[in-house]
Amino acid sequence: MSEEIDIVIDSKTYHAKEGSLLIDLLIKEKIKVPYFCYHESLGPDGNCRMCMVEIEGQKRPQIACDTFIEPNMEVRSTGKTIEKVRTDILELELINHPVDCPTCDQAGECSLQEYYMDYGLHEAKVSISDKVKHKKHVDLGSNVILDQERCVLCARCTRFTDKITHTHELGIIGRGDDARVSTMPGRKLDNPYAMNVVDLCPVGALTSKDFRFVQRVWFLQTVNSICHGCAKGCNIFIDHNRVKYQDDVIYRFRPRRNDEVNGFFICDEGRLSYKALQENRQETALLQGKEIREEEAIQEAQTLIQKYKDNISVVIDANLYSEEIEAILRFAKKINASVHSPLDVYIEESFKDDMLRSAHRAANYKTIEALHIDTHEPKSSGLLINFNHPQNFNAAAHIDFLTHQRDVPSLVFPIADYTENSGTLTNEDGILQKCEKAISRNLPIPTVIEILLKVKV
Ligand code: SF4
Ligand code: SF4
Ligand code: FES
Repeated sequence: MSEEIDIVIDSKTYHAKEGSLLIDLLIKEKIKVPYFCYHESLGPDGNCRMCMVEIEGQKRPQIACDTFIEPNMEVRSTGKTIEKVRTDILELELINHPVDCPTCDQAGECSLQEYYMDYGLHEAKVSISDKVKHKKHVDLGSNVILDQERCVLCARCTRFTDKITHTHELGIIGRGDDARVSTMPGRKLDNPYAMNVVDLCPVGALTSKDFRFVQRVWFLQTVNSICHGCAKGCNIFIDHNRVKYQDDVIYRFRPRRNDEVNGFFICDEGRLSYKALQENRQETALLQGKEIREEEAIQEAQTLIQKYKDNISVVIDANLYSEEIEAILRFAKKINASVHSPLDVYIEESFKDDMLRSAHRAANYKTIEALHIDTHEPKSSGLLINFNHPQNFNAAAHIDFLTHQRDVPSLVFPIADYTENSGTLTNEDGILQKCEKAISRNLPIPTVIEILLKVKV
């Protein structure tokens, strides 16, 4: 085990493990250092030379991403010398950049833009017409578009396919001015995690076909949530916005770092799952397919519950929040119903891999198990109350609480989905995680709990 030692950075003392990377300490302590090629998930590569710092006793500035912390180390991250070095390197990085920021989707979250404002502000020595031209719209596959002119050749994307997915689709070909990212001959970017290269790319060279030209990032509001695509429970950001005269809309899911769960990444299917969430929503109460007011639906539910007293089954979706499941259990107890949550329907072995994806495609099945809820199908009952479970079951009468439309000739209550509500989930490794409410619709859809509080039994 390496020892904690003192290190002085900009005249202030910090503690760090001997032999650990200097750049990790700078990032952890939020000491500003520019970098393109280093990424905590990929390790150092040393190719961009942006992360230069001065180290006492060393003749020349050194890159922080390949410097190991040693005893008696004194580092300077600011000062005229180091800032001049950064300006010069940045000028080189930008030498052939097309400066098309106004039409670039990365604008607003681009490292090149930030560093130019911090260290650049130099006069360009190469005019736009003299810059080397490369391809601007290369469809790499898997929803990823490459703009070769904006690339700073940091190799994060190629290292991702080499070190993380081991699929090796990407490489840097050519030399000097001709160097560019490309897929290997005859290949496309094609792996279940491919879109993570868009987040890894520090500039606007890799953009998502799904998000391109859809929203400017500075209009988006961001909320912390958990993907419900499988029981892994990857941590995500939900980026959403209410455009004037329209409803609150989700524009993208992005990975949120959690070293205990998903690290830095999410799978593409989870990333794109926000689309289906927003389609075919159940927005109004229905009786035999006809729209009714919520009060009428509640009245009808009370009548059915009274009619089938002692012959009622409740079925619960294993994606609901723990708070919702507990509220349903309390309700079921009051009406003396049997409670079930069949879990077999969520198993999809072909989805599983050895990175993140789980065969169990229910985000909160661990809570169903922990609460000892019967995971068998209900025996046929008089009244079946289904809380968004994907299966349909036989019964004389049905009440369905649904987030999305389904062809059920029953009494239907619309309920908020997970992005319209907050709550907790336990993932397949037993980790309790919290989701914040992201979406506030113009016409709000009630939560399960709000409806159950109104049903008098
Ligand atoms: S495309 Fe982006 S991630 Fe890939 S090398 Fe270029 S700048 Fe780096
Ligand atoms: S692995 Fe599962 S939880 Fe993670 S992003 Fe994919 S579907 Fe969502
Ligand atoms: S981050 Fe250190 S050389 Fe690129």
